[in-house]
Amino acid sequence: MLKEHLGYVADHIRLDRFRAAIAQTINAGDRIADLGCGSGILGLLCLRAGAGRVYGIDSTAMIEMARETFSRAGWAERVTCIRGHSHRVVLPEPVDVVICDHVGYFGFDYGIVHTLQDARRRFLKPGGTLIPARIRLRLGAVESEKCRDKAEGWRAESVPDEFHWLRQHTVNAKHAVELPPKALLGAPAVLGDIDLYTDNPDFFSWTAELRIQRDGIMHGLAGWFECELAEDVWMTNSPLAERPIQRSQAFLPIDEAVPVKTGDSVKARVMARPADHLIAWVVDFPATGRRFSHSTWQGLLLAPEDLMRSRPDRVPRLSREGQARITVLGYCDGKRTAREIEQAVLRDHPNLFPSPEEISRFVARALGQDTE
Ligand SMILES: C[S@@+](CC[C@H](N)C(=O)[O-])C[C@H]1O[C@@H](n2cnc3c(N)ncnc32)[C@H](O)[C@@H]1O
Repeated sequence: MLKEHLGYVADHIRLDRFRAAIAQTINAGDRIADLGCGSGILGLLCLRAGAGRVYGIDSTAMIEMARETFSRAGWAERVTCIRGHSHRVVLPEPVDVVICDHVGYFGFDYGIVHTLQDARRRFLKPGGTLIPARIRLRLGAVESEKCRDKAEGWRAESVPDEFHWLRQHTVNAKHAVELPPKALLGAPAVLGDIDLYTDNPDFFSWTAELRIQRDGIMHGLAGWFECELAEDVWMTNSPLAERPIQRSQAFLPIDEAVPVKTGDSVKARVMARPADHLIAWVVDFPATGRRFSHSTWQGLLLAPEDLMRSRPDRVPRLSREGQARITVLGYCDGKRTAREIEQAVLRDHPNLFPSPEEISRFVARALGQDTE
């Protein structure tokens, strides 16, 4: 986790872009919600620019690192760190600015649409500012053996034949790739724009026509973003940009490598339900009439029980783990210590799991997760 955040904090172009947006937006004393604050870097930039208070919110243990960083830097008085999922957090006051970097690889694939929508409605003052404000999605046709290998990995010669069927999952998945500009078969198209100040639908459907500008072999689509952080302050992970941030692009494979010629046009449709992490893509080659249709739904390794579980008419019964969790939490009466609870569980429920060590680990996990 720290390695990922080091990547964010050490990306000086990304920080420059956010710094510029913050300088343009923030007034002395402003209240800020730093959504998915991670290391706390965006909140820190806001404080340096004069923010009066930062609410840093993160659902992971990164919040402790953020808390410690703010404290060591002398900002503890002006920061409130909250561990929790932003949709469940309640702030004590409305804020002037909501800031986040939830743009993922493709722009919409890290949940920014519904996360900012919720934050805009519940955290932001009327007339307040969102950073980012808008996302432009780009789409390009790609020739890249490296990308192809990501989709074909399970069918590689070195992989025993019995596993080759798993290729159907990787060819229906979104892959993170680092594209060189020469991998593009033509100029990218604008796939769509997402205005984060308005209510957006749960389901998006975008189409684009991709002009092929050199002969080659098409292996799939690549998507990336241009994100407007503030007026005229843009941040991008475009493989064509002079100063891109250090972020992969999204590669969406097609089932077969297709030869294309200069002047061809390829039609692409991308559909997404970002809140459910579902993306579908259809690629048409009008010159030959060929069509490829994929979706991350087909790429999920779903067992029949997983599908059953999503049926609203099923009658849920507690799993063994669920029952065990209730047992453990039943001992939390606001008086017993963690050690006393562990001992009580070991004494009263010696068969909760196959070994006392596993019971102790489970108790520690349940108490760590579900108690304060
Ligand atoms: C892409 S990182 C960005 C971290 C930091 N804001 C930065 O710019 O370097 C996203 C962070 O948001 C957190 N996160 C994602 N969705 C969240 C949510 N809905 N509520 C709280 N934290 C969330 C993740 O745990 C992760 O630390």
